[in-house]
Amino acid sequence: MATTSTVKLFFSLTSVLLCAVNAAPSSKLPKDFVVCKLKDPALNECIKNGLQSSIPLLSKGVPNLGLLPLDPMRITTLDINQGTGSVKIKLSLKDVEILNFHTLVIDELNCDPKTYSLNLTLHTKEPIRVESLYTSKGSILIMPINGNGTLKIAYDDFKANIRMVFKPELKNGNTYLVIETFYWGFTTSKMHQSYTNLIGGNKALKDNVNLFLNENWEEVLNDFKPAITEALSEYFITIAHQFFIRIPLEKMFVV
Ligand SMILES: *[C@@H]1O[C@H](CO)[C@@H](O)[C@H](O)[C@H]1NC(C)=O
Ligand SMILES: *[C@@H]1O[C@H](CO)[C@@H](O)[C@H](O)[C@H]1NC(C)=O
Repeated sequence: MATTSTVKLFFSLTSVLLCAVNAAPSSKLPKDFVVCKLKDPALNECIKNGLQSSIPLLSKGVPNLGLLPLDPMRITTLDINQGTGSVKIKLSLKDVEILNFHTLVIDELNCDPKTYSLNLTLHTKEPIRVESLYTSKGSILIMPINGNGTLKIAYDDFKANIRMVFKPELKNGNTYLVIETFYWGFTTSKMHQSYTNLIGGNKALKDNVNLFLNENWEEVLNDFKPAITEALSEYFITIAHQFFIRIPLEKMFVV
């Protein structure tokens, strides 16, 4: 499933990204940006520390680099169609806010400058929280759940792994990195969900459905995962791309 979304993203992004390299405004790096030496034997450690120290900045966003805030991450709409198992639901989310990426800790980072690839694993110290408006149509077991209201989700012990492969693009004697593939996946020790006004405000039914969703969170999450990972991929790629079209490799690193 992750592969499918990666491939789809790849095709939808490539044309946009390749054009953008030509139109990129140039910008200056933040003054405390850590510049690593590509030939440094401890390159992984250097990039890891540099990235970790930029989390507070990335959380707030860097307007002159076109970087949207990482925390809260805001996604205008997100559609989830879940057609398997006992839960059949079409969920439309609006004004989605994802919080707590400012507590992100990079656990491991491996890069290979020869193949322009980067892998990392991370976790967050606080649960990742999602808050959004929702409209739902569908059924759980055989109970219809047509509602709209607010939705809150929390992911405990959020852990993620990311794999990226870049493609170098030469322009005016500088090398720009274009994201060629992006894959990410996450795990959680528990997903908590709470919907208000799930069944037209019927409290007893709502409590039962919320209970069911929380008791069966693993099954529900598996169905939700492709839509969630794809939406966050798009957000993340958009952020990362804004950076890479502005700063050539030769400024990011001592080559
Ligand atoms: C990243 O992970 C993939 C899949 O496990 C592996 O094939 C690749 O060599 C890794 N790259 C680096 C730079 O560690
Ligand atoms: C949401 O529910 C309210 C009543 O609680 C209703 O008036 C409104 O039309 C609904 N909105 C959508 C998008 O279904």
